[in-house]
Amino acid sequence: MENKESSSEYWDSRYRQEDIPWDKGDGAPPLAEFLAESSFGGRVLVPGCGYGHDVRLLARHGASSVGLDLSPSALTKARGFEPVGNEEYVSGDFFRLDEALRGTFEGVFEHTCFCAIHPSMRGDYVKAVAGALKEGGKLLAIFFVKIEDPDGPPYPVSSEEIDGLFDPLFETEKQWTPSKSFPGREGREQMRLMRKL
Ligand SMILES: C[S@@+](CC[C@H](N)C(=O)[O-])C[C@H]1O[C@@H](n2cnc3c(N)ncnc32)[C@H](O)[C@@H]1O
Repeated sequence: MENKESSSEYWDSRYRQEDIPWDKGDGAPPLAEFLAESSFGGRVLVPGCGYGHDVRLLARHGASSVGLDLSPSALTKARGFEPVGNEEYVSGDFFRLDEALRGTFEGVFEHTCFCAIHPSMRGDYVKAVAGALKEGGKLLAIFFVKIEDPDGPPYPVSSEEIDGLFDPLFETEKQWTPSKSFPGREGREQMRLMRKL
């Protein structure tokens, strides 16, 4: 289904106009909290990376992180940050992942990409995550389970929907509510660590 969120022009114009309320200028607190206790290393893909704050946070913790986005303006800004480790930025559409990238990742980190795509694309999103990961690879995700305005983006998702969408390609190893979030997102996020079956 065609929708505005599928168009790179839609996202790029948001960045050009600096109409980017989702950008908080730093890596996601729930990711920082996770990485303080656990590792998420190897090759990690961050779809819809925007300015790449999470890409750099993962790289600082030892991952070879790859930020993917379909907005050239976002990627130009991301590439302008001082490198912190083994990170890179790639232009592309997550739903049409380059053959050279498919099946090459130990991890995918999701933050504010799933909630930004149209709900009709969610089945394709799950297939795209599975296609990016090696066998046994893991998805670490921050899902938005509570958003006041359901006409988004961002589009919220329920825990039950997550279960239905990712079954039978993934099993959930752990799910929890992060204790650290950006202001205004407290209690609205659900973290999941899921393994590709
Ligand atoms: C709400 S923004 C979040 C950006 C970043 N994760 C952050 O938290 O600052 C959604 C991002 O996903 C990107 N995006 C949307 N659909 C995409 C797709 N199919 N493939 C790659 N990137 C996509 C947009 O360009 C945008 O940068």
